[in-house]
Amino acid sequence: MSTTAPTSSLPLFDDRVLADPYPTYEALRNTGPAVHLEKYDVWAIARHADLAAILKAPDTFGSEAGIALTALANRQILASTVLASDGTVHTKLRRVLSQQLAPRAMKSLTHRVTSRAERLVETYTASGRFDAVGLARHMVCDTVMELMGLPEADRELMLDGAAATFDVFGPANDRYQQALPLASRMVDMLHKHLTREAVAPESWMGAIFQAVDAGQIEESDAVPLASAYTAAGIDTTVLGLTDTLVQLARHPEQWQLLRRDPLRWAAPAFHESLRLEAPIQGFGRLLTKPASIDGVHLDEGEQVWLLYGSAGRDPQQWGHDADTFTIQRPRSDRHLAFGGGPHLCAGIPLAELQARSVLRALAAHCSHLTLDGEPVRVLNNLLRGYSSAPITVELSPRTSASAARTAETCQQGPVT
Ligand code: HEM
Repeated sequence: MSTTAPTSSLPLFDDRVLADPYPTYEALRNTGPAVHLEKYDVWAIARHADLAAILKAPDTFGSEAGIALTALANRQILASTVLASDGTVHTKLRRVLSQQLAPRAMKSLTHRVTSRAERLVETYTASGRFDAVGLARHMVCDTVMELMGLPEADRELMLDGAAATFDVFGPANDRYQQALPLASRMVDMLHKHLTREAVAPESWMGAIFQAVDAGQIEESDAVPLASAYTAAGIDTTVLGLTDTLVQLARHPEQWQLLRRDPLRWAAPAFHESLRLEAPIQGFGRLLTKPASIDGVHLDEGEQVWLLYGSAGRDPQQWGHDADTFTIQRPRSDRHLAFGGGPHLCAGIPLAELQARSVLRALAAHCSHLTLDGEPVRVLNNLLRGYSSAPITVELSPRTSASAARTAETCQQGPVT
């Protein structure tokens, strides 16, 4: 380690910082391109440009044995996953997922996902008040669990297990210790349900078994690979979608803009929210050879922590209004909340499809969204988001009229 390199005693994973990490991120961005965090013996990368460059250099900054902060998580819990692999092993695993998650595959899902969004939005908004987290969880869990071929009864276990898995990426603090048993219960559940006998051949898991049969991957790769769908694909989208709804409720003029042209603005609104509040705040990489990060020398074997949540607020990249939510921001989809390089999120088309569908259904139904009290933040070593976010809605005149007509018809009895 270079002796002149910037160091910091900032407690990145303490509750106080997790509750509002942005002053800490700003301090790290101002301190240097790579800042050694003494408490965790890891180098924080907080600036957008440095982070983007590291993501594109996987031969120097490896994911295997470096994606999480503890050896237990890297070597046991995450071993054989697509996230924690490099080179040809990563390419082999990723190819199997890509077939299921590619934009082409989304075409056949579009009708199912949009119908689900319309049905759920109608149900959740009917009383004029709903929890955005409840709606987002219902939408995302039902979609992913159906695609995986998992029973709906395990929805809560899946949600708790996914959040716990992300806690396990962090340092060995109390949150990590409490998460370990939950994360392994989820793995047990996946092993129990995702068997050849239980899953439909046309499900995502069926496709993974077909890849095993075709000799593309080993049998032992199958369940770890499936955990990429369940851990990476559920909480992230729930938190991102919830935050989008919260931001739109906080900024009524942005909601009106979206409502006037949902086809145009639904996706930018989702991306702007991901830029501002990245659902995954950070991931690690291990140096497989020495490297210089904008003049700071790092040795082979050192670890960097990529602060996606900080990159989205970097004024060097986003300008003086980097902390402001504005869905008209040019190129807001260039954020790093989905990572980048070979590990770029494989689920972007599915996350976008679900978010667009919910936002468009809401735009068709609701003229106004308002926060009904402060959303409750959940603290996690990696994730950022809410555990509840109450929202009140005013139904749009067309929806109100059709609801009133339905009520009238019901009172008059069926038309003969
Ligand atoms: C808003 C929603 C989402 C966010 C913010 C998100 C974020 C991320 C990030 C930051 C990475 C990069 C990891 C790294 O740097 O090493 C990643 C990778 C990944 N994501 Fe997502 N994700 C989302 C949704 C999804 C969905 C819906 C799925 C699938 C059902 C998914 C599957 C994956 C997989 C398989 C990887 C690993 C890719 C690889 O290592 O090659 N994600 N995601």
